[in-house]
Amino acid sequence: MVVETVVIAVWAMLPAYIPNNVAVLAGGGRPIDGGRTWDGKRVLGDGKTWHGTTFGTAAGIAVALVLDRSQPVFESATGVGVPEFPLVVAVTLAFGAMFGDILASFLKRRTGRERGASLPGIDQLDFVVIALVLTALVASEWFFATFTVPVIIAVLVLTPVLHVGTNMIAYALGLKDEPW
Ligand code: CTP
Ligand code: MG
Repeated sequence: MVVETVVIAVWAMLPAYIPNNVAVLAGGGRPIDGGRTWDGKRVLGDGKTWHGTTFGTAAGIAVALVLDRSQPVFESATGVGVPEFPLVVAVTLAFGAMFGDILASFLKRRTGRERGASLPGIDQLDFVVIALVLTALVASEWFFATFTVPVIIAVLVLTPVLHVGTNMIAYALGLKDEPW
């Protein structure tokens, strides 16, 4: 069932969706690259901070713990079999999302894009791809049991939509410079 697949995809990806949004709220302070440059361009830029990264990752892990607690109730209420997150998976999904976003900033700076410049496609999927790859490497059995082909397709279709949606809200609230 399509609805079921979508529910599983959103549930399984929530620990990876939350970190970037929390980082926007928690950002500020010392940038990870400490202001250093490479070839005259910032390594990562002021948009990647220790504070944002730490709180974003912690929030993603916390969401996984809350979902685990809610899982039995959710399953009996809806009949949809949603996954449980082993702690290691909570970490790979949350940290992988933050790390993917950091990698994207690294690439953006190398290609001369200033902080906040958009890179369509990469911006919407960087965090998902790295969160999934890291999880597949570290917890392959859990990964392949959860992320079946239909679930992965749902994730790849839904993520850009959800991402643009939340970014437009963040933009409207004055939290972000660009609405995507
Ligand atoms: N943020 C942070 N640490 C991170 C990711 C995000 O502090 N690891 C905060 C920053 O305040 C950042 C905001 O969240 O400005 C928005 O995140 P993002 O769009 O990823 O950063 P940009 O400012 O657009 O910078 P970049 O061009 O590097 O993506
Ligand atoms: Mg950005």
